[in-house]
Amino acid sequence: MSKKGIIFDLDGVIVNTAGFHYLAWKHLANDLGFDFTEEQNEDFKGVSRVRSLELLLEIGGKTATQEEKDKWLESKNEEYLSYIDGMSEEDILPGVKKVLDYLKKKNVPIALGSASKNAVPILKRVNLYPVFDATVDGTDVSKAKPDPEVFLIGAKELGIDAADTIVFEDSIAGVQAANIAGMVSIGIGDAEVLHEADYVFNDFTEIETQFLDQLLKN
Ligand code: BG6
Ligand code: MG
Repeated sequence: MSKKGIIFDLDGVIVNTAGFHYLAWKHLANDLGFDFTEEQNEDFKGVSRVRSLELLLEIGGKTATQEEKDKWLESKNEEYLSYIDGMSEEDILPGVKKVLDYLKKKNVPIALGSASKNAVPILKRVNLYPVFDATVDGTDVSKAKPDPEVFLIGAKELGIDAADTIVFEDSIAGVQAANIAGMVSIGIGDAEVLHEADYVFNDFTEIETQFLDQLLKN
């Protein structure tokens, strides 16, 4: 039995920031004169900031100069930062702490694998930074999910083979990235949206320790 490692996405898996990203993009879309729905937002989850803006402009049928794009990227991030500014441990999603505590107790190596360039300040804000053995985020990768780069670096930093790595993800792109990497993918969210995942749970309160034990044993 080889040693297993676990990689957690951040936004929408550990903390409830996915809604903050959505609000900030929706605000920008509205300012530019079009709407942006929660359904459309599913394709933005796990996707880098720059790529998200390109997708948004495609939805609105807008073209823009680089200068305008830079300005909007900055204003979107400023609005997003204003939302995360008030975060505390209470914003850790239900059931997450229990799962993390259990894995720590069992000495399972755990990493963060996020597309966000704001990942480290968020982890520090909710007091989870010291829990992770490795943190791979948007400042470390050049290829966005569904490219598996972020998870492959995470597994490497943990010293675990890809085939022995388990990924928790709330985004379609992230589930695809884990699958491409040959890792076990666990979707957190809607089973229909995340149908490509090996397992799907609505949230971490549904994850029993027996399930974790089974994953770590296989
Ligand atoms: C991902 C989010 O984790 O990070 C995306 O799911 C977001 O919605 C991406 O666009 C980049 O985040 P940030 O914080 O660098 O803008
Ligand atoms: Mg996410």
